[in-house]
Amino acid sequence: MKSIYDDIETVLFSAEDIRQMVEEMARRISEDYIDNDLILVSVLKGCVIFLSDLTRSVTIKHQIDFIGAASYGNQTRSMGNVRITKDIDISIRGKDVLLIEDIYDSGYTLEAALDLLKIHRPQSIEVCVLLNKKAKHKVDIPVKYCGFDAPDVFAVGYGLDIGEYYRNLNCIAVLKDEVYAKIKADSHD
Ligand code: IMP
Ligand code: MG
Repeated sequence: MKSIYDDIETVLFSAEDIRQMVEEMARRISEDYIDNDLILVSVLKGCVIFLSDLTRSVTIKHQIDFIGAASYGNQTRSMGNVRITKDIDISIRGKDVLLIEDIYDSGYTLEAALDLLKIHRPQSIEVCVLLNKKAKHKVDIPVKYCGFDAPDVFAVGYGLDIGEYYRNLNCIAVLKDEVYAKIKADSHD
């Protein structure tokens, strides 16, 4: 049976790199928010694996919730036209929100998510990203917690997808050219 790991060209961040990064990030969050009413709000679906590890590593009392965002564009490039597909379920009024996003690429998704969350009048709002692609930023957003600085390549795994696949890789990786080409070709069928 073929394994998704056979499709990897380069591992950017191994499962162990990620585990150590999440532990350290969660330790900082637990310290920084010890006197606050913390809620982790994460953007579906790319963040679910990161969030599930992060929330279990944070040792202070907190809540979690989700928003949905879809950006128009092709499969590997977002075009700055972000649509909110799901709002939060629980009230964040007066709470300290940490917005969790998988990738800060152009930043349009983060910008739209922040605009939405501000309407709900939290006491504070900060940003936490798994990957930061500095070369791709189109809007400037302050990031309080950043997992890894990423090169300008299309990465998958640990929640990140291409065509909704490869989210279940335990590492963050770049796939072989022929794999990307096949996914793109199939999506035009
Ligand atoms: P932005 O709005 O351009 O910052 O893009 C953010 C969204 O684009 C992320 O939430 C991802 O879903 C997607 N994205 C951007 N770069 C990558 C990548 O390298 N791999 C997988 N998804 C990506
Ligand atoms: Mg995506």
